[in-house]
Amino acid sequence: MFNNRSKGKCANCHISDPHPLAGKVLFTNFTYDNIGVPKNPANPFYTIPGNFNSLCSNAVDYGLGGFLKDPDNYGRFKVPTLRNAAVSAPYFHNGFYNTIEKLVHFYNKIDVERFPPAEILATVNHDKLGNLHLTSQEEKCIVAFIIILTDRYK
Ligand code: HEC
Repeated sequence: MFNNRSKGKCANCHISDPHPLAGKVLFTNFTYDNIGVPKNPANPFYTIPGNFNSLCSNAVDYGLGGFLKDPDNYGRFKVPTLRNAAVSAPYFHNGFYNTIEKLVHFYNKIDVERFPPAEILATVNHDKLGNLHLTSQEEKCIVAFIIILTDRYK
C-alpha cells in the first residue's frame, strides 16, 4: 500500500529502496515539497516573547522558499525520514497533526474533504497526493507500516 504507485504513492517521496550510497532505506528522496500543510494556530512561535516574531500569528513559514528568497519554493519542506515517526509526534514542520491516523487521512482526502487551507496555496503538489481513493482499511495498513518502522532503542 505504501509503495504501490496507484495506491498510497508514499514511496514516490519517502523512498523505500536502499539508498545507492548508504545501502540503507532512508525513506526520503531528499527533495522539498509543499504537500498542503495548513497553518497550525497552536504553533508556539506565534506567542513567543521578545523580538523574535513581530508579526505574531500573522507570521508565515515560507520553508525552503523563505531561505532562498524564491517564491517558486515557498511552502516547500524537506521530505523527512519516517523511521520512528510513530513515536515522534507531532507531525509536519509545524506540528499540525498529532496522530499518524489523521496524517494518513489527510494524504488520502485533502482534495476531496474539508480541511483547513494550506498555509501557502500557490505551490501545493496535487499530483501525487490529495485524492488517493484509499479505503479506511487501506489507511490502517499504511499506519501499521509506519508503526513497524519503530526501533527498540530507549
Ligand atoms: C510529494 C511527496 C510526498 C508524498 C507522495 C508523501 N509525502 Fe509524506 N512528507 C512529504 C513532505 C515534504 C513532508 C514534510 C512536510 C512538512 O513538514 O510540512 C512529509 C512528512 C510526512 C510525515 C511526517 C514525519 C514527521 O516526522 O513529521 C509522515 C508520517 C509522512 N510524510 C507519511 C507519508 C505517507 C504515509 C505517505 C503516503 C500516503 C506520504 N507521506 C506521501 C512528502 C511526501
